[in-house]
Amino acid sequence: MTVEEALLFVALPYSSITLFVAGHIWRYRHDKFGWTSRSTQLLERRWLAWGSNLFHYGALAAIGGHVVGLLIPEQLTHAVGISEGAYHLFAAAAGTVAGLACIAGFVILVGRRAYFPRIRRTTTWTDVVVYLVLAGIIVLGLIETIGFNTLGTGYNYRPTVGVWFRSLLWLHPEPQLIAGAPLVYQLHATLPWILYAVWPFSRLVHAWSLPWQYLGRPYILYRRRYGLARR
Ligand code: HEM
Repeated sequence: MTVEEALLFVALPYSSITLFVAGHIWRYRHDKFGWTSRSTQLLERRWLAWGSNLFHYGALAAIGGHVVGLLIPEQLTHAVGISEGAYHLFAAAAGTVAGLACIAGFVILVGRRAYFPRIRRTTTWTDVVVYLVLAGIIVLGLIETIGFNTLGTGYNYRPTVGVWFRSLLWLHPEPQLIAGAPLVYQLHATLPWILYAVWPFSRLVHAWSLPWQYLGRPYILYRRRYGLARR
C-alpha cells in the first residue's frame, strides 16, 4: 500500500466517518434550533417543485443502486442466477434514468438559486461548498454510468470499488483495489467523503428529519368548537 493510497482510500474515509458522527452529535446538542433545510419555498415555489422532486427522487434511486452495486457481493447475484450481462444492463439502464433525473433537478435548483436575487441572498458559503462537491460527484457518476457503461465498453466496478468499499466497513481496508480502478471511479469514490465531512455542518442534516409520524398518525379533523349560531 502506497502513502497516497493509505491517505485517500483509508485515512480520508475513516476521518470523514468520525467527523460525520461527532459533527451530528455536536450540531444536535449545540444548534438544535438551527437543524433545518432552510427552505426557500416561501420565496419561490414553481422551480423548486420541479428541481427538488427531480433531484431528490433521482438521488434516492441512485443511492438505492449504490446499495445493490456496492454492498451486495458479485458472487451473490451470480448465485441467484443473475448473469454479469443482465446485471450490467439493468444497472446501466436504471442508473442512467436516476442520474439524469438527479442532474436535471440539480441544475434547476442551482439555476434557481443563481437567478432569483432573494434566494441568492440566502445562500451561504457552506451551501456553495456542498453544491460544488455534489456537482463533482454527480457528473463523475454520470461519466461512469453513461460514458463507461451505457455508451462505452463497460467497466465491472464490483470486484474493485465494491470490495474496497466493503473492506472499509469490515475494518480491513484494501485500498489497492480501488487504486487499480479507472481515475474517474477513484475520483467519484473520493469526493463523497468530503461531502460526509461537511454534512453535519450544512443544511443536509434535514435528511434525518423526515416527518415519519405523518405516516401513522390519524389525519387532522377540523370540528367546530361551538354549534352553528341559530338565525
Ligand atoms: C464512497 C461512496 C460512493 C461510491 C464508492 C460510489 C460508486 C459509484 C459507482 C461505482 C457508480 C457507477 C455505477 C454504474 O456504472 O452502474 C456510481 C454512479 C453514480 N453515483 Fe456514486 N458512489 C458513491 C457515492 C455517491 C454519492 C454520495 C452520490 C450523490 C448523489 C453519488 C451519485 C452517483 C450518481 C448520480 C451516479 C450515476 C447514476 C447511477 O449509476 O446511479 N454517488 N457511483
